Formats: sequence, C-alpha cells, structure tokens
Amino acid sequence: MEMWASVWTVLLAVTIQGGDGQSVQMDSIKSGLVGSQVELRCIFQNSNPPVKISQVTWQKFLNGTKQNVAIANPSLGVSVLPPFKERVTFKQAAVRNRTPSLEDTTITFSNLKLSDEAAYICEYTTFPAGNRENMVNLTVYARPLTRMTLTAPTIVARPQKRKTTVATCLSANGKPQSNIKWETRLKGEAEFQETKNANGTVTVRSNYIVIPGRETHKQKLTCIVTYRNERIADSVVLNVQYEPEVTIEGFDGNWYLNRPDVSLTCNADANPPVTVYQWKLLNGSLPTTVEIRNNSLIFKGPVTNELAGTYVCDATNSIGTRTGLVEVNITEFPTNLPPWGRGISPHQHSQKATIIGCAVGGVILLAAAGTLLFFFLRRRQRTFKGDYSTKKHVFGNGYSKAGGLPTNHPMPKTLQYPDDSDDEKKPAQIGVSGGFEASERDFDGDTEDLKRPYFTVDEGESRDYDDRTLSFQYNPEPEIADDMVSQNDGSVISKKEWYV
Ligand SMILES: *[C@@H]1O[C@H](CO)[C@@H](O)[C@H](O)[C@H]1NC(C)=O
Ligand SMILES: *[C@@H]1O[C@H](CO)[C@@H](O)[C@H](O)[C@H]1NC(C)=O
Ligand SMILES: *[C@@H]1O[C@H](CO)[C@@H](O)[C@H](O)[C@H]1NC(C)=O
Ligand SMILES: *[C@@H]1O[C@H](CO)[C@@H](O)[C@H](O)[C@H]1NC(C)=O
Ligand SMILES: *[C@@H]1O[C@H](CO)[C@@H](O)[C@H](O)[C@H]1NC(C)=O
Ligand SMILES: *[C@@H]1O[C@H](CO)[C@@H](O)[C@H](O)[C@H]1NC(C)=O
Repeated sequence: MEMWASVWTVLLAVTIQGGDGQSVQMDSIKSGLVGSQVELRCIFQNSNPPVKISQVTWQKFLNGTKQNVAIANPSLGVSVLPPFKERVTFKQAAVRNRTPSLEDTTITFSNLKLSDEAAYICEYTTFPAGNRENMVNLTVYARPLTRMTLTAPTIVARPQKRKTTVATCLSANGKPQSNIKWETRLKGEAEFQETKNANGTVTVRSNYIVIPGRETHKQKLTCIVTYRNERIADSVVLNVQYEPEVTIEGFDGNWYLNRPDVSLTCNADANPPVTVYQWKLLNGSLPTTVEIRNNSLIFKGPVTNELAGTYVCDATNSIGTRTGLVEVNITEFPTNLPPWGRGISPHQHSQKATIIGCAVGGVILLAAAGTLLFFFLRRRQRTFKGDYSTKKHVFGNGYSKAGGLPTNHPMPKTLQYPDDSDDEKKPAQIGVSGGFEASERDFDGDTEDLKRPYFTVDEGESRDYDDRTLSFQYNPEPEIADDMVSQNDGSVISKKEWYV
C-alpha cells in the first residue's frame, strides 16, 4: 500500500513538472559589498490549478554541502537559523506574520560578510506537485582601503645618488584585487607587492623609487588605484632638498684689455636657498679692484692682465657646499666683434683712429692692386673670344666675389661695405681679420641683403658669403673682357662696377 503511494507520488510529480509550470523565480547572480545588504529574490509562480505550498526552505550551498538558513511554514511560522539569525529576514510582512501566503519568500541579507559568499537555494515543498527550487549565487566584494604616503615630508638628496623610495601607494584588503598605476613625469621605477589574505582579499602595495635630486624637487606623483570600475587617484608633491648647483655667469671669453664694466655672478640653484657665497681666486688673492656684492664680483675699472685666473665660487646651504669655477683669461684685443652699438671708451676711440688709419692704407693698397690688375687684364683682353651678351645677371648693389688677384696678396681678409645706395661701391674700411669696430652699422637683418654681392641666377643656391663680413678669395681669373670682368663662378660683371 505504502509502496504504491510513493510510486503514485513520483509519477504525479514528474507529470506536473513536465506539464504545468510551477516554478521558482530568482536572480541567477547577486553581489554586495562587505557590510551592505542585498535582497535575494524568490518568487513562486503558481499556475492553474494552484498547488498547496507546505514549506519554503532557504539553504546556503558551499563546497558541496548545504546549510539551512531560514524556513517558512504556513502553520508553524518562520525560523531563521543561528549564524544568520541577526542578518536574514523575510521581506514580506505576511510571511513573518504566519499568513499562509508564501508566494514571495524574498529574504533581505544585511551586514554582508565575506564568508556569506555562496550559492543560496530557495526550495518550495508543495502538494501535490512536490519540490521546486532555484539558486542564486551571491558574491561579496570588499572595497580596498587606499592610501598614498610620502616616505618623508622632505627628502634629502645625497651626493651619493642613492635610489630612494619616495612614496608608497597601498590598496589594502580588496576583493576582487585592485590594480595600482603611477602617473608622473618623474623618472623612476615602481615596485609592486601583492599579499593574498585568507579571507580572499588581496593587498597591493607599490613603492615609487627615484634618485632624489634637483630635478625631482616639486615633482608631482599620482597613484591611481583601479578597483572594479572605480578609479581612485591620490597625488603628492615631492619636496627634495639638495646641494647648490653652481654656475658662474659673466665671462664671455672676450675680456680684452681695457674693457669696462665686467663682473662675475655666482648663480646657485639650491633648496633650501644658499646662505653663504664665497669667492676665491685659485693661486692668488682676489684683485684689489674687486667688490663683492651679494653673489656677484664687480670689477672696478677697465680690464687689466691682473684679472686673469681661475675664479671659484663656493655656495653653501644646509645640505652642503658646492663649487663653481670659471677660468678667466685676458686677451689683448676683442676676440670677436662686440655687439654693435656698445659704448666705446676714450681709449677705444684712439684705437679706432689707428684702425681707420690702417683702413685708409688698405684702400690705397687695394686701389694699387686694382690698377695693376686692370693693366694685366687689358693685355690679356685681345686673346678673349667669348660672348658675354647671353649671360644673365642678377645685380645686387654690392661687390662680387673679386677675381684675378693673387692669393698671397697682402690684402685684408675682411672687408666691410657701407650700404649707401651709391652705384659706385667702395670698401669703406679695411681691417685685420677678427676684430675692429670700424663700422657701427647694423649689418643684421634686412640690410644684409644690400651688401650681398650679385650673383648669376644659376648659382643662386651656392652663396657662400659670410653673414657679417665678406671673405674674399683671390683666385686667378682665366678670361677677361674689355669692359666686362668674368667671375669665379663664370658670370661676368662690368668693369665699371668692379674697379674701385
Ligand atoms: C571549501 O573546500 C576547499 C577545498 O575543497 C577548502 O579549502 C575550503 O576551506 C572549503 N570552504 C569552506 C567554507 O568549507
Ligand atoms: C553558481 O555557483 C555554482 C556553484 O558554486 C556554480 O556551479 C554555478 O555555475 C554558478 N552559477 C552562476 C550563474 O554563476
Ligand atoms: C580580510 O583579512 C585581512 C587580513 O587578515 C583583514 O585585515 C581584513 O580586515 C579582512 N577583510 C574583511 C572584510 O574581513
Ligand atoms: C696652484 O697652486 C697649487 C698649490 O698651491 C699647485 O699645485 C698648482 O700647480 C698651482 N697651479 C697653477 C696653475 O699655478
Ligand atoms: C643683496 O641682497 C639683498 C637681499 O637679498 C638685496 O636686498 C640687495 O638689494 C642686494 N644687493 C645688491 C647690491 O644686489
Ligand atoms: C682663453 O680661453 C678660451 C676659452 O676659454 C680659450 O679658447 C683660449 O685658448 C684661452 N686662451 C689662453 C691664452 O689661455
């Protein structure tokens, strides 16, 4: 009799399960952060004809074992079992109040713990349909604690240049694991460390390592922790103390005798700032004409040979002392042309007069040479058979590269021309290469083109003229015409312009 009854029940269950659709509706996955609360939904779909719900059981399913969480019975009421007693409640008051409506047995799970992560089964026992169940997988996340710390409020850059951890970024006890990235213009390296905790969380730590120095001071360092879809950024700015970085300004390699107003300045980049500057002259004492003004050496009066030597500046801050030095040598004349328009001392004026004298002499010499050349060319003229009329010219209003003068001619190498618009060009002044200030005219900029010699169109790319001075090459000229003079490059010019 009993056997038949159970066979009947099984048959009936199979029939009903296959046919009418009583079902348990649940979310398939659910998640929540540690400490938060979640709702685990469980709805019984009772179709026609309705079956009778005799009991609902919630179970935790982990590692293949089931554990009862809560039971609702239409006549006996509700029971939440010990480990969950404080944190699990049936959402519907009707269920709690023993009303026999158990269609919605959703539970509220509060104050989640990592150990709550499991599958939860909601099982309906019905008559005559038998058991119906479904499952939700609950995942519990743990938000990491993130923190960025400077190793020290101030980092002292040691001269030994040792690698130092300047900042640490920590993302502690996160689940799932978070990721750390650094963002900085600072040159350095990051070191990462991961620790897996027994409760399934992971602690990630990263150190940022640099060689502290001047260039690391005030640099910003940002740590970016990525946790799930969240981006947590934190920044610090380094405060690095370093020894003075010393440079001496003022010596331009052109300290010539009698040059006025020279000085040297000791510049130091330091944190904290330099407190003491000390000047020394190697192998000697500082000239008596010198005045020390803060971090500068002011030389009184014009340059003399006594100023030569190696000047040393010691700059000191609380981290240390560093030295800068400059080797000053004195030249008899300016080694390069000083900027145009600079003030000229009375002494320089007399120098200038001498130079102009030399220049006039040079002009006379050049004229003599030109005359010689003229006669030389005239003699050769009869042998010339070329045709000049086809040659195209672009005429500037300066001089061409002159041809026909011997290379060893005692001509100065540097010529300067006035840029007046006179057709008949003459070298204004002639001086020795490398240094006289015969003309104070500005040869920079637009006026430059005015004194550029003319050149033929087809050689336009190969202007090898110096920008400030015209360097002439005196190559023997092969062919000369009556009133046209042929050029190195094959072009010809009128003698009228060529002669001075
Ligand atoms: C689940 O099983 C694994 C190994 O099978 C074990 O390490 C773990 O402790 C178990 N978890 C629980 C909660 O029993
Ligand atoms: C839920 O968890 C169970 C057991 O842990 C697993 O077999 C199943 O695939 C999971 N389902 C989902 C949707 O993640
Ligand atoms: C997980 O374990 C770590 C290390 O034992 C602990 O510091 C942390 O608080 C735990 N996290 C949670 C959410 O229990
Ligand atoms: C400077 O003096 C030191 C010793 O005082 C000496 O060894 C060195 O050769 C000197 N240098 C010059 C350029 O005179
Ligand atoms: C020297 O430094 C002080 C303070 O730094 C400044 O007030 C003073 O003007 C400086 N003197 C000169 C000559 O530059
Ligand atoms: C002077 O110094 C310049 C550059 O520092 C160097 O080129 C030159 O040779 C030096 N002259 C002498 C005489 O030491």
